[in-house]
Amino acid sequence: MVNFRYKQAQSVNENDFTSFDTLLKKADGYFREKNGLGNDFLGWRDLNVRVDSEEYKRIKACAKRIRENSDVLLVVGIGGSYLGARAVIEYLKTPYHNQLKTGDPEVYFVGNSFSGNELNSVLALCEGKRVSINVISKSGTTTESAVAFRILREYMEKRYGREEAALRIIATTDANRGALLSLAKQEGYECFVIPDDVGGRFSVLTAVGLLPAAVAGIDTDALLNGAVAQREKIFESGINSPVYKYAVLRNIMLSHGKSVEVLVSYDPDFRFMGEWFKQLFGESEGKDKKGLFPASVTYSSDLHSLGQFVQDGSPILFQTICRAATNDADSPVVPFDEENGDGLNFISGMTMDEINEKAMLGTLLAHRDGGTDSVIIDFGGKDAYSLGELIYFFFAACAISGYILEVNPFDQPGVEAYKKNMFTLLGKPGYESGKDELLSEIASI
Ligand code: PA5
Repeated sequence: MVNFRYKQAQSVNENDFTSFDTLLKKADGYFREKNGLGNDFLGWRDLNVRVDSEEYKRIKACAKRIRENSDVLLVVGIGGSYLGARAVIEYLKTPYHNQLKTGDPEVYFVGNSFSGNELNSVLALCEGKRVSINVISKSGTTTESAVAFRILREYMEKRYGREEAALRIIATTDANRGALLSLAKQEGYECFVIPDDVGGRFSVLTAVGLLPAAVAGIDTDALLNGAVAQREKIFESGINSPVYKYAVLRNIMLSHGKSVEVLVSYDPDFRFMGEWFKQLFGESEGKDKKGLFPASVTYSSDLHSLGQFVQDGSPILFQTICRAATNDADSPVVPFDEENGDGLNFISGMTMDEINEKAMLGTLLAHRDGGTDSVIIDFGGKDAYSLGELIYFFFAACAISGYILEVNPFDQPGVEAYKKNMFTLLGKPGYESGKDELLSEIASI
């Protein structure tokens, strides 16, 4: 169950919501009827991978095989082709899952930068361990992941021979086109599909996220069921659902002159959910010179860095606090100390989770008093079902918020600009024009 509260957003009142009624109804229509901008990318809305689908059965069988024959899974992908999987694994298994010796394969994410250093480090971690690779790219041509995969393919073929390497490499890509698909067919890699109507940043509940998550031992049935349940709630409640309130609230904040939304969590395991959120909203709404800049922080750590700015700096932001119901059972308890040299006996007997909750409440009120508005998204707990609900909540909120903003939430034309210059500088065939101008500009940097 995902809930949304905005009582601590002092600058907002009911009239603000009413003033968005027309745009909200229009957005709701686009979402329900699939007839808004970018409607051919709304495939995620109906969750094309469900627990009873053939594709899902194949994903689970493949995950089982990898769990049996591998100690390490390398996930090669960038942007929407890795952030969701990493977010789900780190949140549900902790960022330390690879060191915890749980019996689940280690999962490392590569091909999301041009850092040779990082790739070397991960390869060093693979020494003496059985390795499989899941290369993920919808276009099949993204340079960061393609470069890493070329190096890793050579590594796998040297290590296992071409035939066994082919059994240990799984490709997740477009059903019909792209260089990765051609290579996969040529080499005989098992393939999973990123559906045509699902963009990268909306793909975590397809093979893109489900295969790595299942390999890591996550209950992907629960993840999908949570998303299905959230979908049903949204369709039942319509514009009264919390997801619509949150989508409108974001646009109210923008209309009040805020330019940054900071996603807040008090759980360090949630950090990559913040990274995933930034891509989801940044690529969906940051266009046509519009949109909130999505940022994320982890409190209480960041109260000791960005907290000063949030309390007292220029009033450009509001906060969205993500709060899971906590299960206190394993939280360490502060022991009583006869000598009390550190003066902490006043909290002896309390769990760290209880202290965290007090820090959250105290901070919420302090930030309110400093003039920074906060809203709260409460979700069920730290389990796969609740995370599935939360992921679908953000998907739907992003689509509806983008429609209210009157942009196409499903394209990302701005991502191409850097690629064009980079390809020209690298000498990619077809990108020769303008090279001289670019070089002379670079000479003056
Ligand atoms: O959301 C998106 O579409 C992008 O972030 C892509 O996921 C990212 O650029 C990777 O693209 P591809 O999967 O084609 O390699």
